[in-house]
Amino acid sequence: MAQDTDVIVQPGSVQSDPSVHIEVSKNGPYIVRGAPALHVQVIVANEAGNSWAYQQGQEFAVKDGTALCRCGHSKKKPYCDGSHLRAGVDLTETATFQPMLEGAEEIDGPNYSLTDNEAYCAFARFCDNGNRIWNEVQMPGEQHEKLAAYMAHQCPSGRLLIWDRATRMPVEAPLPVSLSLLEDPAESVSGPLVLRGGIRVQSASGASYEIRNRQTLCRCGASSNKPFCDGSHASIGFRDGL
Ligand code: FES
Repeated sequence: MAQDTDVIVQPGSVQSDPSVHIEVSKNGPYIVRGAPALHVQVIVANEAGNSWAYQQGQEFAVKDGTALCRCGHSKKKPYCDGSHLRAGVDLTETATFQPMLEGAEEIDGPNYSLTDNEAYCAFARFCDNGNRIWNEVQMPGEQHEKLAAYMAHQCPSGRLLIWDRATRMPVEAPLPVSLSLLEDPAESVSGPLVLRGGIRVQSASGASYEIRNRQTLCRCGASSNKPFCDGSHASIGFRDGL
C-alpha cells in the first residue's frame, strides 16, 4: 500500500490507504475521500452506569466527495445541507499541527506509562468509569495494567495512550478504518465524528494533522480545538437527531 511520506504518524499508528482521508473545507463541511464505512456508534454503559463499550447502529452511505456537517446546523445530518453559509458559526481551525505527545502529560506506572493530552478530550468518559485510568496505570499487577490499557483503547479521541515502558511503544494494535457518529445517551447528547485506523485529516490550508489510530472531529461547531472535538458538544447539549 502506498504511504504519504510528508506526514507525521504517531508512534504505533499506521496510515490508512491514502485514498481514504478527510478534507476540512474552509468554514465548511468535512469532505470524505475514498468511501470508508460510516455508522452510528452508541456509548454503552456498564451496570454502574459508566461508559464501558460501544454498540454499532445505522449505516449512512458515503462515497468519494460526500460532505459531512461540522457546523451542527444541517437539517440533513450527518450530511451537509449548506446551513453553515447562514448559521454564522466560526469554523476556523485552531488546532496545532504538532504531534499530540508534545502537549501531553506523562504518568509512569511499574510497567506501563500513560500519556494524556487533555486538549483532545471528547468527554466519552471511558477513563473515569468507576476506576480512574490515572490511578490504574500506577497500580502494580496485571489486572490494573489490563484495565488501564482497555480504558485508553476505548477513548475515541486518542487523548489517552498507554505505553509499554520497556519497548516505548503503545499497547494497542492499529485499528481497521472506520468512521463513526458518536451518540452519548447517558448525557443525552451527540458527539464527534470518530476516525479510526490512521485516517489522514487535511486542513483547509492543505497541511495534514498528525495521523493517529484514534481521532475525533467536531461536528457541533463549538470546539475550541477545531477540527478536533474538545467535549464542548456536552456543554451545549448538541443533538444530531439521528
Ligand atoms: S462534537 Fe465535540 S466539541 Fe463539537
